[in-house]
Amino acid sequence: MHAVASVEYRQEMKGFCAMTLFKKKDLVGIDIGSSSMKLVQLKETRIGYELVNIGMAPLPVEAIVDNTLMDTSAIVEALRTLTKSLNIRVNQAACSISGNSVIIRNIRFPYLTADELEEQINWEAEQYIPFDINDVNIDFHILGPDEIDPKKMKVILVASKKELIKEYVSLFKDAGVSLTVLDVDAFALQNAFELNYEPSADEVIALANIGDATMNFNIIKNGSSLFTRDIQLGGGLYTREIQKKHSVTRDEAEKLKLSEGLLDDEFLRMGIEQCNDTLAMELYRSMDFYGVNATEEKATKLYISGGCSSTPLLLDAIRDRLDIPVEIIDPFRKIICREKRFTPAYLQEIAPHVTVAMGLAMRRYGDK
Ligand SMILES: Nc1ncnc2c1ncn2[C@@H]1O[C@H](COP(=O)(O)OP(=O)(O)OP(=O)(O)O)[C@@H](O)[C@H]1O
Ligand SMILES: [Mg+2]
Repeated sequence: MHAVASVEYRQEMKGFCAMTLFKKKDLVGIDIGSSSMKLVQLKETRIGYELVNIGMAPLPVEAIVDNTLMDTSAIVEALRTLTKSLNIRVNQAACSISGNSVIIRNIRFPYLTADELEEQINWEAEQYIPFDINDVNIDFHILGPDEIDPKKMKVILVASKKELIKEYVSLFKDAGVSLTVLDVDAFALQNAFELNYEPSADEVIALANIGDATMNFNIIKNGSSLFTRDIQLGGGLYTREIQKKHSVTRDEAEKLKLSEGLLDDEFLRMGIEQCNDTLAMELYRSMDFYGVNATEEKATKLYISGGCSSTPLLLDAIRDRLDIPVEIIDPFRKIICREKRFTPAYLQEIAPHVTVAMGLAMRRYGDK
């Protein structure tokens, strides 16, 4: 497994996680998305990861808005319902954050040891972070020497708003769960992809997780992230479009969006195609933005996940716009799934939603 920079929230966690004696196998991946919560539990075996538990629970529309936890009691309730329905007790969890409160930068620093960088990180990072340095938690991961300037090294810098981290820590505390790892959606996505697909070291690959409100975009090579971006677009765009054009409620629009024969209605089809194009254009822009600043080659393939990736004709729209092969991620590709416990039909249905949770379930305390 190639772990990247998982955000650890040292100050906030002190005295919190110390109270529990963690066993490695207890870690459960929990992805709190704006439309639903996903849970994945894996077991490490001699021949790879085995699926132990998996589930999903809807969240009220207003529970998370703009990646901010608005209704924590509804989220805690959803977690309780989910664990109850799966008949499990979660002791420690890995969760992830995304959006505007998380800044990820690939930068070049003067050559330092990890300890030296740890000491100087706030001072060094200040110029790259658009927030007050006192309001953020800084984490970093040294990627290696810079090929262009040997006096420098490549580093991934992750700055997350302390306020948001506190909210997550307290949410899990309310649910009686220790939040052991707080990662970033884009890195969890990468983690799940790398484990399942084992890309070769020279391949540059783009990943996009398209959910309801956010699209996590990550360009990777040889286990490292070259460029990430969170775009505030997803399945909600289609729902709003249908709601507006057909003068229906949000719930009705959501139902219409998921109905069979959706494309038979000319009016609906046009709306879907328009939204597909908006999403494809945003992906194109992100690819382009990476390309302009990149020192590495262009991505040769795009892998997508997220509930929105099931939208009819979306893949074609992206292929047309980007002119590269596009494939949907199978988060169970290398995971041992016992058919007696999980029917293939259920796994197929849940698959688009659980890639991030899968990547989280593979995390271990202290991962870097
Ligand atoms: N078959 C389908 N066709 C089109 N869209 C779908 C389908 N199934 C689910 N969706 C959409 O996928 C979205 C939910 O996906 P996902 O579970 O990945 O999002 P999320 O994690 O809750 O949100 P986010 O990550 O953006 O906060 C919703 O907009 C939903 O309508
Ligand atoms: Mg999501």
